[in-house]
Amino acid sequence: MSLVGRDLVIIGDLSDAEVEGLFAAADDMHRFARSNARLCQGKVMAALFHEPSTRTRMSFESAMLRLGGGVISCADAASSSAAKGESLADMVRVIEGYADVIVLRHPLEGAARVAADYAKVPIINGGDGAHEHPTQTLLDLYTIRSEHGRLAGVKVALCGDLKHGRTVHSLAVALARFGGEMVFVSPQGLEMPEDVVGRLQREHSITPPAYHRLDNLGDGLRELDVIYATRVQKERFALPEAYEAAKEGYQTTAALLDRVGPRTLFMHPLPRVDELDYALDVDHRAAYFRQAANGVVVRMALVAAVLGSIDIAAPPSAPAPEVTVSAECTNPRCVMAHEPYLPARFLGDGDTVRCRYCEREVTATA
Ligand code: NCD
Repeated sequence: MSLVGRDLVIIGDLSDAEVEGLFAAADDMHRFARSNARLCQGKVMAALFHEPSTRTRMSFESAMLRLGGGVISCADAASSSAAKGESLADMVRVIEGYADVIVLRHPLEGAARVAADYAKVPIINGGDGAHEHPTQTLLDLYTIRSEHGRLAGVKVALCGDLKHGRTVHSLAVALARFGGEMVFVSPQGLEMPEDVVGRLQREHSITPPAYHRLDNLGDGLRELDVIYATRVQKERFALPEAYEAAKEGYQTTAALLDRVGPRTLFMHPLPRVDELDYALDVDHRAAYFRQAANGVVVRMALVAAVLGSIDIAAPPSAPAPEVTVSAECTNPRCVMAHEPYLPARFLGDGDTVRCRYCEREVTATA
C-alpha cells in the first residue's frame, strides 16, 4: 500500500512506518526547499481555508510551488460560496474538478472527514475546529526528531489551552505512539479533554500527569526535552471575559531558561499572543521558527506522496471499524450538527462508540 490518493484527516490515518517514510522524504526535500523540484509539475493544489491561517496555508502553497506544481487558494469563508450557503460536500465536489489535492481548514470538528467522504481527490486536513491538525503534528514530530535525534523516550510538556488546541490533541496521540512521555500543563478549565486522556489510557496505557503551572514540575523542568507552548484559543470561547480570565497568569517567560536543561527546546505551533516571552527568542533552545520552517519540507513530502510523485510504500494503519448503533452526537461544534444531509456514522472502539466525524465519545441508545 502506498500513500498515493490517500486522505490525511487525523494523524491516526498514517501508520508509524508511513510517518517515518514521510520524514525520510522530508529530509530529502531540503535540497529543493529553496529551488524547484519539478516533482509535481502539472498538478494543482487547492487551499480552501475557512479559518485564519498564515503558516499552514502559506507553507502548503510554498511546498507545492517548490514541487513545481500550481496553487489555487481561497483564504476565507466570507469570500467563498459558503457565505451563500453552499454545503461542504458540494464545495469539495466542485473543487475536485479544478485541483488534484485539496487542503482544507474549517471551523467545524470533523469537516475534513466529510470532505474526504465526498471528494475523489485526496483531502489533507489543515485543522478542523478543535479536533485535529495532523500536518502540524508531522512537522512537530519531525522537529523533535531533527533536534533531539529521536522520538522514543522524549519528555514533552504540552502547555496552554489543551482543551481547545487541536495541535496538542493530535500531538499527544502521536507522541504516545512513538514512545514519548508527556506531562500536561494547562490553566484551570483548559485541561486536556477526557476523550484524548481516555484514548491515551486505553490505547497506550499511559496517564500523563497534569499540572496547572510549569512551576509545579520543580526539578522536573530540567528533565524536559521539549516545552510545547500553545496559545489560549480565543476564537473557541463564547464570551470575551471567559477568554481573558482563562489566559490570566499564563506565560512562559525567559526566567525559565535558567531552570530548564541545556537542551530543553521551546516549541510552539505559532501564532503566539502573549504566552511566550519574546526574550526567549535569542536563545538557541527557542525552536519555534525552525519548527515553522520545517513545515515546508514536511508538507512537500506529504503532497508529493499523495499525488504519487514519490513513493512511500509502508504498511498502513488499521482504521477503527464502523459500527451500526442507535446513537447521537451531541457535540454542537461537530460538522454533523451543521450539515443536515450527513448520515450519522459511528466508530466502535473497544467499549466505546465515537462519532465518525468529530471522534467524540457518544452513548449508544440501543
Ligand atoms: C495552530 C492552529 O491553527 O491550530 N496554528 C498553526 O497551524 N500553526 C495553532 C493556533 O492557532 O494556536
